[in-house]
Amino acid sequence: MKLFVYDTPELTPIDHLPDCAVVIDVLRATTTIATVLAAGAEAVQAFSDIEELMSVSEQWDSNRRLRAGERGGSKVEGCDLGNSPLECPSEQVQGKRFFLSTTNGTRALQRVEKAPHVLTAAFVNDRSVIDYLQQHQPETVWLVGSGWQGSYSLEDTACAGAIAHALLGNLSHDQVEVIGNDEVIGAIALYCQWQSKLLELFRFSSHGQRLLRLEREDDLIYCAKRDCLKVIPTQKEPGVLIAGLEKT
Ligand code: MLT
Repeated sequence: MKLFVYDTPELTPIDHLPDCAVVIDVLRATTTIATVLAAGAEAVQAFSDIEELMSVSEQWDSNRRLRAGERGGSKVEGCDLGNSPLECPSEQVQGKRFFLSTTNGTRALQRVEKAPHVLTAAFVNDRSVIDYLQQHQPETVWLVGSGWQGSYSLEDTACAGAIAHALLGNLSHDQVEVIGNDEVIGAIALYCQWQSKLLELFRFSSHGQRLLRLEREDDLIYCAKRDCLKVIPTQKEPGVLIAGLEKT
């Protein structure tokens, strides 16, 4: 395995793809995706463009769909939900297609959607994704943070660091072949410094502060939980993710 970390979709190469891309948007898109799939949604269909979400979802029976739209942290008018993972109770999402468009996370997904294997990760399901990567050993893996409108996000890189740290353990020089770029080492260092105080890290982050201003502290608390969902959101066709379950 050769592992690369890209902090934002804009920093990912455009002339080639990895065997497996793992998209990360801890606050909050990939936390929400893991949550709704674990709660029994039929699939999550992601769109970078809200108009396209509206027109594709219009073709679905309204009882079998939920439309979730977020811009700048707030719910988009005309959607059923925003992007809070706490607003997706099982009774509401079970069996439904969850149409989702967010500011950065769904754009990051679109950037790598042509890779042969695409997964999403957040802290809530990091262990399941790590187990998948350890079992399947893809030749090249990109951990892609969603960032915020082209700039770096602490929480996404910290989650990439958690995955890289679990895969590489304590770094040693015989692992040089596995480390694809310097960002892997930077992400691991960030994670190691903050691993026992993720919520505190989120409070420092610019998007964490934005969510606090929107009174979404409970979302931050939830997104900081570790390994509470045994689900591997897995792309089955471009933009459509289903619940891959961990092998026991
Ligand atoms: C995004 O895609 O930028 C987000 O997940 C923003 C949010 O809803 O907190």
